[in-house]
Amino acid sequence: MKAVVIYQPGGPEQLTYTDVPTPQVKPGWSLVKVRGFGINHSEIFTRRGLSPSVKFPRILGIECVGVIAETTDPTRLPVGQQVVSIMGEMGRAFDGSYAEYTLLPNKRIMPIQSQLDWATLAAIPETYYTAWGSLHNLRIKATDKVLVRGGTSGVGVAFTKLVKAKWPQVPVAGTSRSAKKREQLLAAGYDEMVLDQDGHLQTDQHFDKILELIGPKTVKDSFRFTRPGGIVCSTGELGDEWYLNKFDPIMDIAPDAYLTSFSSGNVDAARFQQLLDYLGKYHVAVQPEKVFDLAHVADAHRYLESKRSFGKVVVVGND
Ligand SMILES: NC(=O)c1ccc[n+]([C@@H]2O[C@H](COP(=O)([O-])OP(=O)(O)OC[C@H]3O[C@@H](n4cnc5c(N)ncnc54)[C@H](OP(=O)(O)O)[C@@H]3O)[C@@H](O)[C@H]2O)c1
Repeated sequence: MKAVVIYQPGGPEQLTYTDVPTPQVKPGWSLVKVRGFGINHSEIFTRRGLSPSVKFPRILGIECVGVIAETTDPTRLPVGQQVVSIMGEMGRAFDGSYAEYTLLPNKRIMPIQSQLDWATLAAIPETYYTAWGSLHNLRIKATDKVLVRGGTSGVGVAFTKLVKAKWPQVPVAGTSRSAKKREQLLAAGYDEMVLDQDGHLQTDQHFDKILELIGPKTVKDSFRFTRPGGIVCSTGELGDEWYLNKFDPIMDIAPDAYLTSFSSGNVDAARFQQLLDYLGKYHVAVQPEKVFDLAHVADAHRYLESKRSFGKVVVVGND
């Protein structure tokens, strides 16, 4: 089969499109024909060699949509069944989705039902599930004023589409480090752009809910912009910091505010189907910003790392 293998860490040029043996099924694992996947910021990080537990060579890719090609669980996962998988060490401890086929533990494969085309479906798993979980943990409601810190990211744009689809009247602002992305942010559904300059928000507004995707690097700053009773959900780490440093919860969580988080590892088939049902019920306009094919995964990484990067980038496989 064709796959994108990384033999040593480095830039996008290390992602090698090549022929490898198709994996053989083994007890408790089934073979998935990959029809699409999103590119995630965490894969860029792993590609650079910054995920110490990941050993090379490796086929990256922490998520996929596809169909069962060979099964060891014909009852739950019959051949031809449409499926989704995210996380669970896929593309990290074992080979992932940057390939025509991927061998996955049955317990990590979620059967789904969806009429969406593969490119649209590929935009959903990790990104929309993370955005959806964050939306729940932020307890979003109709009277909220919302800020997405890291507004131009795939998760940020997905979150805004989820909020706006159900509560069109809820104002949602999105941050970027680049003023040039203002028009794109507005076109994606945000009501306004807030400039994030060297980790400091250029606004004097306050918000009920803040989705914090830059993460531990800016959480403290975000609490300067919460209203009483506000919630900050620290879901991302785009700032490349993983731990809160010199953070005094008593002083740094604003008065009467709350700090929460969400992990996409907290997933099962029923929860994922709830997300798909939400997308259908509220007619969420899920569509990837850019679509690549398997031979051009390196270009997809280049785009996502560039200053032009915006929204969700997906790769769609062959029939
Ligand atoms: N908790 C979970 O389970 C979970 C699940 C999925 C994703 N995540 C995390 O959520 C975040 C978003 O993921 P994604 O895949 O949607 O990201 P993405 O699409 O790759 O994000 C790209 C955007 O990140 C911004 N950015 C890049 N480097 C930055 C830096 N050093 N400081 C500030 N902004 C930076 C850029 O915005 P501007 O240039 O416009 O400023 C760029 O447009 C990531 O940290 C990811 O690891 C968490």
